[in-house]
Amino acid sequence: MDLGLTRRRCLVTGASRGIGRAVAHALADEGAELLLTARDPDALAANAPSGRDGARVELLATDVTAPDAGELLVGACVERLGGIDVLVNNAGTSRRVALDELREDDWELQWQLNVRAPDRLMRLAAPRMAIDGWGRIVNVSSSAGKRPSSQNAAYAVTKSAQLALSRAYADAYAAQGVLVNAVAPGPTGTGLWLGEGGLADQQAREHGHDRVAALTAVAARVPLGRLADPEEVADVIVFLCSERASAVAGAAWSADGGAAGMFI
Ligand SMILES: NC(=O)c1ccc[n+]([C@@H]2O[C@H](COP(=O)([O-])OP(=O)(O)OC[C@H]3O[C@@H](n4cnc5c(N)ncnc54)[C@H](OP(=O)(O)O)[C@@H]3O)[C@@H](O)[C@H]2O)c1
Repeated sequence: MDLGLTRRRCLVTGASRGIGRAVAHALADEGAELLLTARDPDALAANAPSGRDGARVELLATDVTAPDAGELLVGACVERLGGIDVLVNNAGTSRRVALDELREDDWELQWQLNVRAPDRLMRLAAPRMAIDGWGRIVNVSSSAGKRPSSQNAAYAVTKSAQLALSRAYADAYAAQGVLVNAVAPGPTGTGLWLGEGGLADQQAREHGHDRVAALTAVAARVPLGRLADPEEVADVIVFLCSERASAVAGAAWSADGGAAGMFI
């Protein structure tokens, strides 16, 4: 299937690791041109794909929660790639924290990451795409946005808000050829879970067992019986970025091995 992404100009946030890195590589394989962003410039450079057949791959390290990140990133995409056709709002993070231990800064970080940053990027990118009559935006939410997990309600609540934001943009822009969708991954084998000090280590510490036992317990609660690979989630995201997803707007597409609605 030709996804029709050759030379499409794509901005991907959180592109240095995990799901965002897999999205960047999959888009590059399709011949897309890329502007990739994350905070750590070294990780961004070390993990960036090469462009296919001379397609440009540009890097710009920044914090997406900065108030001017929308102008900076959309401006750089237009300046370096000549425009913007695709936006993937993927940057995000979480930690295990109980409801009664959430602090103001947990709420603020998750609000900025999951709602304000995607909104700042969409409000600049979507009207440009509308002028061109073609655009794709994918917001990477979470199964926790459909059913809160036992941990980090600030993450779940703002991932839920991100689904509503995504739907609002989908309604506003679909008729102009700009299709906005969300993807809701479940537990996925990225640094968020598997990295040193990540969710598996945090869970193991809490329960007094090792990280293998923690990961086995998580996998057992997913109907698929395992964590997803980042590439599996990226495939869904890239399809929604593609020409082929031409009748999909306002979706909140689960890529969670059946975990949506379950208490992870
Ligand atoms: N893994 C899962 O189980 C899972 C499940 C559901 C949803 N998700 C969602 O999927 C998305 C990607 O998660 P992942 O598992 O791939 O995480 P990851 O492996 O930890 O990668 C996160 C990426 O986001 C970047 N990032 C984090 N904070 C940022 C900020 N303030 N500004 C700019 N970039 C930032 C990181 O780079 P820097 O640190 O260098 O900035 C990195 O590139 C997130 O939105 C997450 O909530 C993940």
